[in-house]
Amino acid sequence: CNVVVLISGSGSNLQALIDSLDENSPVRIRAVVSNRADAFGLQRAQAAGIDTHVVQHKGFADREAFDAALIEIIDTYQPQLVVLAGFMRILSAGFARHYQGRLLNIHPSLLPKYKGLDTHRRALDAGDQEHGCSVHFVTEELDGGPVAIQACLRIEPNESIDKLTDRVHAAEHIIYPLAVRWFAEGRLRLADQGAMLDDTLL
Ligand code: GRF
Repeated sequence: CNVVVLISGSGSNLQALIDSLDENSPVRIRAVVSNRADAFGLQRAQAAGIDTHVVQHKGFADREAFDAALIEIIDTYQPQLVVLAGFMRILSAGFARHYQGRLLNIHPSLLPKYKGLDTHRRALDAGDQEHGCSVHFVTEELDGGPVAIQACLRIEPNESIDKLTDRVHAAEHIIYPLAVRWFAEGRLRLADQGAMLDDTLL
């Protein structure tokens, strides 16, 4: 399964994905694309011998033009799956449609709670007892596509935002490689009813 990963920053989820692969894995990360030239994840990719590309959004007239440039690069790798791993640009409806059913994102909340930014702060401010992260298929609705897998953590009494952020991040590093592997094995797919896990997983 050819995979292209899109990043904007540190790329710790990219690293978790890289570290989850071995020669028996069905997942092949063909390229990493960043909208920022200074994204540390680009160095992680290069260290792993993966092609990297930078497409800076500043150079484009509008979102559609930027997304078209992204699609052009991504599609040279003919990916069966595109993985958003901390990609901090909102993608157009056309982009979501182009990769429908083969575009995954990880979001740091228990969706449908806390779409958008600042999720850890919002969970703490709300006095929530649980928080976590979600891998979901990307649709035209921001952070609104069908959820494939979630990790749920109990918020500790008086937990600091830094600690909660770190714990959610650690959970992301477990569930994202799992979801990508399941997709590559044909055991996770987008169906009319939502994200479907093959019952051999149950
Ligand atoms: C993660 O918190 C992820 O949930 C969000 O962006 C962050 C990316 O972190 N979508 P990293 O670049 O993978 O370290």
